[in-house]
Amino acid sequence: MEQYIIKGGCPLHGEVEIGGAKNAALGILAASIMTDETVLIENLPDVRDINVMLEAMSEIGVKVERLSPHIVKINGSGIGDVSIEYEYIKKIRASYYLLGALLGKYKKAEVPLPGGCNIGSRPIDLHLKGFKALGAKVSIVNGSICAVAPQLRGRHIFLDTVSVGATINIMMAASMAEGRTVIENCAKEPHVVDVANFLNSMGANIKGAGTDIIRINGVEKLHATEYSIIPDQIEAGTFMFAAACTHGDIVVKNVIPKHLEATISKLLEIGCEVEEFDTAVRVIAPERLSAANVKTLPYPGYPTDMQPQIAVALAMAEGTSIVTESIFENRFKYLDELARMGAVSKVEGNTAIISGVKGLMGARVSAPDLRAGAALVIAGLAAEGITTIDDIVYIQRGYENFEGKLQQLGARIEKVSSDREARKFLLNVG
Ligand code: EPZ
Repeated sequence: MEQYIIKGGCPLHGEVEIGGAKNAALGILAASIMTDETVLIENLPDVRDINVMLEAMSEIGVKVERLSPHIVKINGSGIGDVSIEYEYIKKIRASYYLLGALLGKYKKAEVPLPGGCNIGSRPIDLHLKGFKALGAKVSIVNGSICAVAPQLRGRHIFLDTVSVGATINIMMAASMAEGRTVIENCAKEPHVVDVANFLNSMGANIKGAGTDIIRINGVEKLHATEYSIIPDQIEAGTFMFAAACTHGDIVVKNVIPKHLEATISKLLEIGCEVEEFDTAVRVIAPERLSAANVKTLPYPGYPTDMQPQIAVALAMAEGTSIVTESIFENRFKYLDELARMGAVSKVEGNTAIISGVKGLMGARVSAPDLRAGAALVIAGLAAEGITTIDDIVYIQRGYENFEGKLQQLGARIEKVSSDREARKFLLNVG
């Protein structure tokens, strides 16, 4: 089983290139099958979730031609089956985007119900509410969602909760429904806007993405397009906090600073210096980080996917901080792992009270999920001594060459798959 092994205490310095946004790419890949013409997608992140999504698409007859790790050609004209295999939805929940895409194009689709995951139960009731509103008959048969619509008709849909997935899924189905759809209380994340822009580049008629009301005039057909995915704001933010936690000074390149506003504002609040350029951001860490309170919110608020990363910084800050997780019901599990490294925190419901300590100590820990796993890597980079991280397959779902990019910034980190390799690393770092 692969692990990360880290010798902490090394300030990160230098530049790191940010890849394409995983959570935009997953929606865009699903939407790409809605035309029978060929679509070219660039700046695709080469991460596990994307590769699984491409496998799920090939399985139903989509022609997938990977021109390079970051460029793919898609042609959805040969789709022979509109039901997605359970193994794919088990690996990545976002396979459910194929439900909205297939329903929009073929007016029928079958996708296994996604289970919960380590950060919460993750229901998809709002997705199904939207499909039903558009005229689909939705039933759950043997653990799968079956959606069939003789005709999809535009409707006025109000989302009870702000949901990225429901906004994207309903937007896809509505883009090929008859007439006008209005979706209210939409998610405004950059990746929602990216999927809308992608659909519009295929001939869809979507207005208002990035605001809380999206208006869609359905079209009969979508056509070929070439599209480049936006940079990943969460990958960028993760490296920015890695610099903050290691007394570092780094530049993250190929980013959209506007997407990082909430992250930058918190980095400033905990004492970092931040310099913004057109497509890059520099983060310089202070001698000691300061405590701060943070509440995760839908965009443009502080992102829930950046919650574990700031918690690691606050665990080493001067003073006591309060972290409130308002999006998911179970996103503090990693604090038990962080406690093994000397962090002091107490969870009360959806709030964690974190008392900063002078420094963390290396330990063996396990990644509970994607973003918490990345946050534990940051903790290992900052800690005194050696940290070993198990279950790094979670991290590989959303971070391309994570250890390689960190090594380029001076981190002493290695991906190892045997005790021998671990011993070799320890001998090298002394
Ligand atoms: C997306 O998940 C992201 N995943 C998540 O990132 C991210 O944390 C989340 O948005 C919030 O920004 C992808 O884009 C693939 P939601 P999603 O629907 O769409 C509730 C990562 O690290 N809800 O916005 O599933 C839900 O339970 C991952 O890359 C319903 O109640 O999130 C949650 O409390 C982790 N009913 C809240 O809404 C529904 O039908 C927000 O969830 C749908 C959601």
